[in-house]
This record gives sequence, C-alpha cells and structure tokens, in this order.
Amino acid sequence: MKTVVISLGGSILIPELEKNRIKAYLAVLKKLAAKHRIFVVVGGGGAARDYIDVARDLGIDEGTADEIGILVTRLNATLLIAALGEAAYPKVAESHSEAKKFAEAKKIVVMGGITPGQTTDAVAAVLAERVRADLFVNVTSVDGIYDRDPNRYTGARRYDTLTPAELLDIVGKGGLGAGSHNVLDIIAARIVERSHIPLVVVDGRRPANLADVLLAGKGTCSVVSDTKDTILPL
Ligand code: UTP
Repeated sequence: MKTVVISLGGSILIPELEKNRIKAYLAVLKKLAAKHRIFVVVGGGGAARDYIDVARDLGIDEGTADEIGILVTRLNATLLIAALGEAAYPKVAESHSEAKKFAEAKKIVVMGGITPGQTTDAVAAVLAERVRADLFVNVTSVDGIYDRDPNRYTGARRYDTLTPAELLDIVGKGGLGAGSHNVLDIIAARIVERSHIPLVVVDGRRPANLADVLLAGKGTCSVVSDTKDTILPL
C-alpha cells in the first residue's frame, strides 16, 4: 500500500457547477483507495474564479479574495465528501495536521485550501511531505508539463520526465495573483524539489485516465523526479 496525495484541480472536478465531473471521479477515487492510502486536495474551479473576479471589481484586496477562494475550495471539498459517502472521512480537513489525524480512520481524506497567497497545489505538496507520501499527483487540464504554455505557443515541447530543477525553471516564469493559472504553483514546485517526492502530472479531462496512469502505467503523463527509479505503475 502506497500513500498518494492528489491535487484535483477545481477546473477538472467542477469547472462549472452544472458541468462537473464528480460522478465520474467517485469510481476512480474508490478504485485507488481500495489499494492505496488516498488524500485529495480539491481546487476552486470556475466558482472560485467568479467570486474572485467579483471581489476585484468591488476593490477588495487580493488577500481577502484568496480567503474567498479558500471558502469555495472547501465548499467543493464538502460536495466531494458527501458524494463519496462511506468511502470518505466525513469532514473537510482544515489543516495538514487535521488531515493526518483524519487518515487514522483509513478512509479517503479530502481538504481544500488553507492559507492566502498560494493555491491548492501548494496545500497538496506540503501534505505530501507531512504524510510522507510515496507520490504526489497533480490532476489538471493539460496532458503533462510543457516547456511553454501549449495553449499559447505552437511548438511547445512536452516532457515525459523532468527534474525538479527543470520544473522550477518552467513554473518560475508564471505569475501568482488570486485565481491565477499555471500547471503547478511555484510554492508547490519548490516543495517538490525539497521533498524529493516524485510528482506525476496527469490529464484529468478523462477521469479514467488517473486510474490508468497510476494503477496500470498506461496513458500520457509527465513524471518529475530526481532519480531514475521506476515510479509507475504504483
Ligand atoms: P485553486 O487551488 O483552485 O487555484 O484555488 P487555481 O490555480 O485556480 O486552480 P484550478 O483552476 O482550480 O485547478 C482557488 C483560489 O483560492 C485561493 C487562491 O486565490 C486560488 O487562486 N487559495 C486557494 C488560497 O489563497 N490559498 C489556498 O491554500 C488555496
């Protein structure tokens, strides 16, 4: 049994409330949890962005907009927990310590954001350190890590494998405002470097892809690691 921390982007799970992928992810998460200890950190998705945009229009400061974003991630986490039913610990963890404590119940532990100035990727990266995870997974809306934004640059190159230093170099070129978008936030990338925990970036637009990549080693992904050890399948 391995310990896996999954950063499940809100733009994947709940891009819009009525176009959510929650149902499809229930089966995938339960399949993973049957074999491994699973922690899920849920992002804010479209609703968080909408709230943050409105907050900015109202002249509200970035830190407060972040706090509003955090509330939305916790709302999304609540929805996922309720939908998972018996398979999940029934409360959203509001700190890393709480997540560790909840894991003693041997159920899927779900959390959202915790502190302004970062995204749920950073929450998940630190959680991976705190629970001594074997693997950190970022489920996102690209099929891996590119040297430049593939949506903006034709000819962007995708990596099958890269080192944490290469990841930091790529991520360091992005910005960080409330609701800003990058393949992984810079804080998370720094934590990946210091923790030496391998990171796998998978395309979550097709939910079954997550189980295919982790359990069967099938499908496209990028692996960030500072060793040549075989990471997948788990
Ligand atoms: P997300 O983690 O969802 O950010 O948090 P994101 O980059 O938009 O990710 P996707 O698109 O869902 O994958 C939403 C917002 O909540 C605030 C930030 O403003 C973030 O942009 N937040 C979240 C925090 O300030 N701290 C946290 O710990 C988490």
